[in-house]
Formats: sequence, structure tokens, C-alpha cells
Amino acid sequence: MAAKVKVMGISGSYGNNSNNTKLVKLGLEILEKMGAETYFWDLNEKPLPLVGEEGSWENKNVAEFQDLATKVNSYLLSSPEYHGCMSGVMKNQLDWIYSKHVSGKAFGLMSTLGGQSNSNTLNQMRIAVRWIHGWAIPEQIAVPNIKNAFDENGMLSDEKLMERLEETMNSLFKSSLMLMNSN
Ligand SMILES: Cc1cc2nc3c(=O)[nH]c(=O)nc-3n(C[C@H](O)[C@H](O)[C@H](O)COP(=O)(O)O)c2cc1C
Repeated sequence: MAAKVKVMGISGSYGNNSNNTKLVKLGLEILEKMGAETYFWDLNEKPLPLVGEEGSWENKNVAEFQDLATKVNSYLLSSPEYHGCMSGVMKNQLDWIYSKHVSGKAFGLMSTLGGQSNSNTLNQMRIAVRWIHGWAIPEQIAVPNIKNAFDENGMLSDEKLMERLEETMNSLFKSSLMLMNSN
């Protein structure tokens, strides 16, 4: 039987009202409809310590996070842009995964901004992913003006952005399969 695409969703902000969590979950729903199995890492339930904090290397949430990263074959990341950079929360999660967990697997990248769209955060995540030997797909999405980005049904109100999200998820699904078959 063909192996299933399994995707781990990682959000770069905490809290029940996190727009990045909403965006990741929306992406995961689209991937599920394509036949993927999805897992969202909930930082509110299972916070991760800062890398290098006292006792952090033995932390049980870290071990679970790394086990999940090993078990899946692709990742969907979304980070808020803070001062022109990915959030510290996203960077810290990326700092807990290494090539032995993610090498040769596909990554989809998304970001959100209070202001206008740009690629700063996406580019930074792309560099970090390259460093851990992941394969970041070329399609990506930056959601500007995030306070007004979702409609009452939890969809992106800008139709073009919604289409772009679907296209990005489609590419992530296909790229995951391609990489799974070549490993
Ligand atoms: C410390 C901080 C710095 C921020 N810097 C920027 C920025 O450089 N550019 C921008 O467009 N928005 C900036 N914002 C707005 C955030 O990008 C926005 O609140 C975030 O994308 C919302 O996502 P969330 O609901 O998941 O937290 C900043 C917000 C904070 C808290």
C-alpha cells in the first residue's frame, strides 16, 4: 500500500486567537481533503523550552516534538513577522529540529503581517530549512493586514489569497509524495 503523506503543522505564535495557528489549521484542513494525515503541534498544551535553557535537552515535550518531526514526511510552517523577522517562537521550534529528523522532507512556508506583504520572514524560514536539509517548496504565501484577513467562516476573505493557499497546499502535497518516493 502507498505510504500516506503525513504533515506536521507548526505555528509561530501562541494563544487561542493566534492567526498563524488559524492559517496553519486551515492549510492542514485542505491537505486532509487531499488525503493527508495531519498533526498540529499545540504550544499551549505542550510548550517547548528555549534551546539551551537549563534542563531543556532532557525536556519531555522536546522529545515528543522531535519524535513527531521524525514520524511525518512534511511540514507546514506559519510565522508572524516581528520587526522584519520570523518570530522567536518559530525560530526556537526550528532550533529543536535537526537534519536527522527532517532531511529530504518537504516544507511549506507561510507568514502573516500586520502591515503590507513582503517576503522577509519567508526568506528567513527558507534559510533555516535549508540548514536542516529540508526541501522548502517554491510556492509560499504571506498574508498582509492580518487583523482583517479572515472572514466569519474562518476562510481568507481575499479570494486570490485563498486560491494561493490552495495552490501552495497542492504543491506541498505533491512535493511530499515526490520526495517520499525518491527516498
Ligand atoms: C513585536 C512585534 C513586532 C511586529 N513587527 C511587525 C513588522 O515588522 N511588520 C508587520 O507587518 N507587522 C508586524 N507586527 C504585527 C504582527 O506581524 C501581527 O500581529 C501578526 O502577524 C499576527 O499574527 P498572530 O495573530 O499569529 O500573532 C509585529 C507585532 C509584534 C507583536
